[in-house]
Amino acid sequence: MPAPRKLFVTTALPYANGKFHIGHIMEYIQADIWVRFQRMTGAEVNFVGADDAHGAPIMIAAEKAGKTPQQFVADIAAGRKPYLDGFHIAFDNWHSTDAPENHELAQQIYLDLKANGLIETRTIEQFFDPEKNMFLPDRFIKGECPRCHSKDQYGDNCEVCGAVYAPTDLIEPYSALSGAKPVLRSSEHFFFKLSDPRCVAFLEEWTQNGKHVQPEVARKVKEWFSVRENPDGTTSEGLGDWDISRDAPYFGIEIPDAPGKYFYVWLDAPVGYLASLKNLLDKARIETDIDDDTPAPAAITYEQYMAQPELEQVHFIGKDIVTFHTLFWPAMLKFSGRKTPDRICVHGFLTVNNGEKMSKSRGTGLDPLKYLSLGMNPEWLRYYLAAKLNGRNEDIDFNPDDFVARVNADLVGKYVNIASRAAGFIGKRFGGALGEPTADGRALLVALRAEADGIRALYDGRDYARALRETMALADKVNEYVDANKPWELAKQPDSEARLHDVCTVCIEAFRLLTLYLKPVLPALAANVEAFLKIAPLQWADVDAPLPAGHAIGEYRHLMQRVDAKLLDQLFEPPAAEQPAAAAAAPKKAAKAAAPAADPGAPGGEALAPVVGIDDFAKVDLRIAKILACEKVEGSTKLLRLTLDVGEKGEDGQPRTRNVFSGIASAYQPEQLAGKLTVMVANLAPRKMKFGLSEGMVLAASHADEQAQPGIFVLEPWPGAQPGMRVR
Ligand code: 2FM
Ligand code: ZN
Repeated sequence: MPAPRKLFVTTALPYANGKFHIGHIMEYIQADIWVRFQRMTGAEVNFVGADDAHGAPIMIAAEKAGKTPQQFVADIAAGRKPYLDGFHIAFDNWHSTDAPENHELAQQIYLDLKANGLIETRTIEQFFDPEKNMFLPDRFIKGECPRCHSKDQYGDNCEVCGAVYAPTDLIEPYSALSGAKPVLRSSEHFFFKLSDPRCVAFLEEWTQNGKHVQPEVARKVKEWFSVRENPDGTTSEGLGDWDISRDAPYFGIEIPDAPGKYFYVWLDAPVGYLASLKNLLDKARIETDIDDDTPAPAAITYEQYMAQPELEQVHFIGKDIVTFHTLFWPAMLKFSGRKTPDRICVHGFLTVNNGEKMSKSRGTGLDPLKYLSLGMNPEWLRYYLAAKLNGRNEDIDFNPDDFVARVNADLVGKYVNIASRAAGFIGKRFGGALGEPTADGRALLVALRAEADGIRALYDGRDYARALRETMALADKVNEYVDANKPWELAKQPDSEARLHDVCTVCIEAFRLLTLYLKPVLPALAANVEAFLKIAPLQWADVDAPLPAGHAIGEYRHLMQRVDAKLLDQLFEPPAAEQPAAAAAAPKKAAKAAAPAADPGAPGGEALAPVVGIDDFAKVDLRIAKILACEKVEGSTKLLRLTLDVGEKGEDGQPRTRNVFSGIASAYQPEQLAGKLTVMVANLAPRKMKFGLSEGMVLAASHADEQAQPGIFVLEPWPGAQPGMRVR
């Protein structure tokens, strides 16, 4: 057995001046899948992120918001968790580049570079805004890119061609703060001498030796080393020195022994990877010290951790920040005597409907929190993005129709379906116990296992698209086997009991293998499957550990809903304020916002909602539901979990039930409700709650002022109503 891999994995640190957009989430999902996969193979991984807190834009945004920069970035940081938890992105630590660890590390790296003769000062001419009376930060000077001539590019790098340059290189510059034409003033700046032959030689080797970046990235980077002629006749130089200082006022890290001078944000930003890791390791040491006298393996210092020769340092980034990660960052590390990165994994941009680029500054279109608040399953998105990510730095597109098709046809139709087709029979006919597959079933399972190494290599190479294609091809094989053996017909034939057991057992084992292959992408679903199969968390090595005959599985519960295409329409609906008839188009929101506190004169304490037509009413599908089971929800005083029968059948012809959480625990004991009929909203978008997915809503009456007039009254139909009947 080879020793487990040791991995230190990061994603690019987002600027702490805005919420996450879908581009961030895509990158985090890409990295999270890789990390989860590596962990399944036994690797020891530290996966960290942080907010990129410094820089003039954040300083200026904080001032506008009337906050200190520290308060401003703390407020942004406080909003990160719902996104990360919501999409199952499991960073081990989230820190900030303004944390003490980062100040210390960045200053030490600088001092080490200086001691190595790679820092020098020069007096430069810099743009100054005569109206604002300050040196203009790069991001607040705009103009035409000197390389590709795109208009309105920032002063430090071009978002179109990726060129990195000085603001003074811009053609027709203007101040983005005041619009004024900036004037040149001189100031002393600090430079990292990237043009030093040692740096050039190191970087040429490091970027071109085929070990650290994708080939398409290496080719791009190679261009930056050479002196060459541009199409417009001008020449571009090779590697230039890098200006790493900014003048006060600046929100950043002070340069040692240089009053009024700060590190440019991009100097300390990647150091934030190390700072977050150090913070994580220090916390682990403190915890182990408190919990236990014997230090756990995690109780290792940051220095010891980084000194491990087998440690692999892997950064996931977007293609817009390649220069910083393939030139500046490795050189900073190398020439300050530190470990250099092992791999920079570069992805492309995400577009929505072939639309606008999801850039950092202009991320629009698919709002991740709206996605979650609509009750859309985060694993639909994880699956969809994974199905498009192939490990190269190509752009990928989110197409709503494609999204619906892939999730419904592949994920639910091919994969989830296998369990729902077999599990019922195992439960009902064989007391939940698995049987022994016969030859044809064994052959199918051997074929499924034979792909394990290939799929493993695809995950490792970040070609998730192919890993999922191969997995779905296996799911096709399993479905062919089901169709050929027709368990639902076997179930009707008295002499086919053994064959039914065999076929369903093969399906369950096949489903276990497919779940294992999908687990990096679908961690929550896999956890539900593990609970249903009554097995320990699946590891990659479990490919070769089939469920034995006699193993008892649990009761099958519906694992994943299909996507309703209407949800996609809602997702891309512009916010109410942007719609022409906002109040009419969004009655619920408007009514909620406008609803007065309990109005004692109005019926039930609240004014009637605005009138709706019969067509609008008909959109709400109310059904009679039978409460098959009702239980308390551990960890919640408000909720009861209801299992409802609305007369539906699954694709296997078996009755399908709904799981609904209802805030009625203060009014009912579970046993009062079990067995009763009630009315539910059957077409409400499923909502992911802390305790699981809620697939509808039960109707109950209450007074608007529940404090003054307590009581919740669940609706119950007159005798004779049957589950599934529509209420109109
Ligand atoms: O481009 C960005 O969003 C930067 N905040 C990324 C920094 S990555 C790392 F260097 F910190
Ligand atoms: Zn350009």
